[in-house]
Formats: sequence, C-alpha cells, structure tokens
Amino acid sequence: MAAVSCPFNIPPLTFQRKKTATKTRLVFAMLRSSANSCSTKSIAVASPQTLPRVSPYSLQYEQGKVGAVPDGGVSKTSISAMEYLTSILTSKVYDVAVESPLQHAAKLSERLGVDIWLKREDAQPVFSFKLRGAYNMMAKLPKEQLEQGVICSSAGNHAQGVALAAKTLGCDAVIVMPVTTPRIKWESVKRLGATVVLVGDSYDEAQAYAIKRSVKENRTFIPPFDHPDVISGQGTVGLEIVRQLYSPIHAIFVPVGGGGLIAGIAAYVKRVLPEVRIIGVEPSDANAMALSLHHGERVRLDQVGGFADGVAVKEVGIEPFRICKELIDGVVLVDRNAICSSIKDMFEEKRSILEPAGALALAGAEAYCRYYNLKDANVVAITSGANMNFDRLSLVTEITNLGRQQETMLTTFIPDEPKSNKQFRELVGTRH
Ligand SMILES: Cc1ncc(COP(=O)(O)O)c(C=O)c1O
Repeated sequence: MAAVSCPFNIPPLTFQRKKTATKTRLVFAMLRSSANSCSTKSIAVASPQTLPRVSPYSLQYEQGKVGAVPDGGVSKTSISAMEYLTSILTSKVYDVAVESPLQHAAKLSERLGVDIWLKREDAQPVFSFKLRGAYNMMAKLPKEQLEQGVICSSAGNHAQGVALAAKTLGCDAVIVMPVTTPRIKWESVKRLGATVVLVGDSYDEAQAYAIKRSVKENRTFIPPFDHPDVISGQGTVGLEIVRQLYSPIHAIFVPVGGGGLIAGIAAYVKRVLPEVRIIGVEPSDANAMALSLHHGERVRLDQVGGFADGVAVKEVGIEPFRICKELIDGVVLVDRNAICSSIKDMFEEKRSILEPAGALALAGAEAYCRYYNLKDANVVAITSGANMNFDRLSLVTEITNLGRQQETMLTTFIPDEPKSNKQFRELVGTRH
C-alpha cells in the first residue's frame, strides 16, 4: 500500500449525505444504539482535507529514542473509551483470523539481555493482521448493505484482508489496485474470488476511482485504517497480548502506517494495563505519525519512502491520530538497515521471512533496548506481515550486509568511452 490519504470524517451519531455546490461529501457515523458496537450505518467518503505539508526530514532523531511524545490531550469524539473496549471484546474477527501465537525470541533476547516476544501476525491466513479490521467492519454491516457489495483500494495487505472477508461473508468485492501492482499481489487477491480492477499509476488514483465507483454502485468502501470498526478489529491484537503474557510488560512496539493497528492496540491495552508503554515504529522517511504528534495536528508528508511499502503512508487517519494523541507513548524511527537486520534476525530466530513493514516493530524494539540499555524486561514486537515480494529478497540481503559492515557500497562516475569500464575494474582490483 502506498501513499494512502484517508478521506474520512467522523461526525457524531447520524449518517448523512451532504451535497455541496462543488462536491459531494459523504460522511459516516457510529451507531450508539446497538450494544457493543462502533459500527457504521453506512460509509462515506469525503474530499481530502488540506493538511500542512511537511518533509519527513524535518523531524529526525536517533534510532531507538522515543520521540514525538504526544501531549496526551483528550479530544472530543463520538466514541467513548468504553465503547472501544466493548467493541474490541465483542469483535467478530475469529471467523477468519486466528489467535496468533506470542513467541519468545530466545536468541535475540539473549543478545539484548531482555525478553523479546514476537506477536506473530505474519502467521494469519493472509499473512498479515489486516483481515481483522476488514472483517470486523464488514461483518457488522447490515445485511442489505453487504448484499450491495464492498470496494476498497489497496496495493497490499488490506486488499487480501477485504477479499478473504468478502469470501467468508459471501459478498461481492471489488479491489482497485494501481496498474503498477506486481502480478503476484493482484493474482492472490483474484484467487480469493474478488474482482480486481487495475487503475491509475498511484495509490491515490486507484483510491479516487474506488470512491467514485462506491458511490455509483452503492458499494461500501472499506477503508484501510480510518474507521472505528477497522480499529476495533485490529485492537484484538492487543487483547490477545494481554491474555497471552502474564508477566509485566514494559512496552509493546507497533508498526505505524495510517495508525489503525496502534490505535486499536492502545485503545485496549491502555485501558486495562495503563502502565504498559505503547510505542509506534515508523521508517525515518515515512514518519507521518511522528510528525503529526510533533505538530499536534495531522500533517501530510511531501514525499514518503517506499521501502516498507505496507506503511508508506503520507497522512495518518483522523480517528487513529485522535486515539494516538491521547494514548500512545511516542514513536521510534528506524532506517532501512535496521529493518533489514530485523528481517534477518527473524529468519534466524523462527525461519520466517517478514516483509519490511512486518519487521518494522522488531527493528524499533531492538533499537529502543539498545538506546536505553534496557535489561530484564518483557518487550513485545508485532511482526505484522510476511507478504514479501520474492524478488526483493536480494536487496534486503545486500542492505543487511551493508548494515553489518560486511560490505561497502561505493558510487562513482565512469566516462562513457571505450575501455573505461576495464580501467575501472583494474583500479578497484580483484575481489577477495
Ligand atoms: C504489514 C503491515 N504492517 C503494518 C501496517 C500498518 O498498519 P496501519 O495502517 O493500521 O498503521 C500495515 C498496513 O497495511 C501492514 O500491511
């Protein structure tokens, strides 16, 4: 998934469709009437809000340090903390998701002098946690709405989550993906029975098409992170961790894209175990949450690094940001080397290959333990996905070796003349 901008507003209580002179704004709301539910009556899509543009490089700090610590201010919302708790506790995710194991990482723990626990969301049926939120939202839709079908735009894990949820619920799903989406990704979505439409060169274009089509065909748009039911579905990851680990937890490290996963985890864990630190992890060149918390308002990145494509998001969601501002303890930033090293650590530990976004939290947890010289504590990292493009593996290996200083990369200019290549090779000498 790349450069996602979330188009939702969450006004209180009623569903409404407003027509303005220039554009149609659809807004959605939570129903308080049905017990234990934050569910949407219908869906809505709004024109993107104009957010302040910032560069990812305007906020950088040392790897492992917890920065962008929010002020903890509580903002007005239509959904109370109790509603989130009950919504998470009664979430329907287990029709499709499994309670993923929480596994001790023995080698890493020994190396760092702490107990590292891996919450294995890469072991879900579609190899990421994303099916939890998608299914929870779709399962709560009224029958008539579900019969109209659903639509989403995604080039990644959300697409597979929606496709599997639709298959399980027996509803029609259209998944809009940019034309640049690798064949392997759209084929796996198609295999799940969804209709794949390849449109546009970027995620934004695919999203614009999906939103238009959702209105035209009266399909429900399933957003990747900015919806209370999606957040509640992701929150079941937090519920499971609390149930699975009896000893005191120092911190839970969570990868952040649009913020749905961390918001859901914080909404549960901070209410039942407020002493547990909830720390977001972002790539240093895709730090929309850190910058938004730093500025005290949502901002839009003017560019975003795409290495960890699952979290390459230019702006975080409205509802995730509201929750994070109040509940999380800050954000750790990591670079590509750290992410690749953690992919290797995970492979050595469990023989599993994580995608870059899936290894992000582990990279953040490792960097944090080193930065604060943390010892004898329980630290949880969400390994959030394993949908790695096979042909990117060689890049990961190369970067890992660079990070461990086993290789050096040099860049130079060679004149475009006969024999210059040969001369260059002679100059560098033979490799040993
Ligand atoms: C593997 C993986 N990890 C983390 C995330 C970030 O989740 P969120 O957008 O809810 O912050 C995503 C999002 O798609 C993902 O695919």
